Amino acid sequence: MEVVIRPADELAVLAADVIEARLREHPESVLGLATGSSPLKVYQELIRRHRESGLSFARARGFTLDEYVGLPTDHPERYRNVIAEEFVDHLDWPAEQVRGPDGLAEDLIAACASYEREIKDAGGVDIQLLGIGSDGHIAFNEPGSSLASRTRIKSLTQQTRRDNARFFDGDIDQVPVHCLTQGLGTISEARHLVLLAAGEEKAEAVHQLVEGPVSARWPATVMQFHPHVTVLVDEAAASRL
Ligand code: GLP
Repeated sequence: MEVVIRPADELAVLAADVIEARLREHPESVLGLATGSSPLKVYQELIRRHRESGLSFARARGFTLDEYVGLPTDHPERYRNVIAEEFVDHLDWPAEQVRGPDGLAEDLIAACASYEREIKDAGGVDIQLLGIGSDGHIAFNEPGSSLASRTRIKSLTQQTRRDNARFFDGDIDQVPVHCLTQGLGTISEARHLVLLAAGEEKAEAVHQLVEGPVSARWPATVMQFHPHVTVLVDEAAASRL
């Protein structure tokens, strides 16, 4: 595990460098996309490079990590819409080449299985961007998630619903109760994991991720088993290392 401690702005540039290098060499790469505020600056940096130096996503494929269950198609916080709005719509990336779990499927269990198949059929994820929750969750794998878990339905913890209420007019009651999420086993199959974290509220989760014992209590610690992990953190998020 490589841990890089830099000012927050530089972290986005470093993550964008990893993705750009991969795309320039392998335009057909499969990218794993994350939502939340952590990767936003990475997306902005990649959009800038697309505009200014022609970095192309036209042949890439993308898979998002997770999705809320039950948000209507046009809801701005539906992750599919968030990723389109913040990133994909600003690139030369055909929308149909970016996929996410279907939180509106009638049969959610079948939707999870078919999402796993899609990722597999694409050859697996080359670079997976990740944020981390203050309780150590990655994607929506909350504490207690099996380290071998696959894409499935999960309940969100009160902590995560409280953390994410800021995207729902500050109203926790508007935050969905269930989600579909790639499992820790699914995420671990990506060939390079790039996690970003900034701010003091992530410090304990980052401490556990890097130095804690591997445990479902802190789901991100599964990354300690992975052969190629880059953890990009600012001073505040690194303050307990
Ligand atoms: C959500 C997402 C996670 C993300 C986490 C942290 O719960 N499902 O994928 O890592 O939030 O979000 P942020 O980056 O906004 O702190």
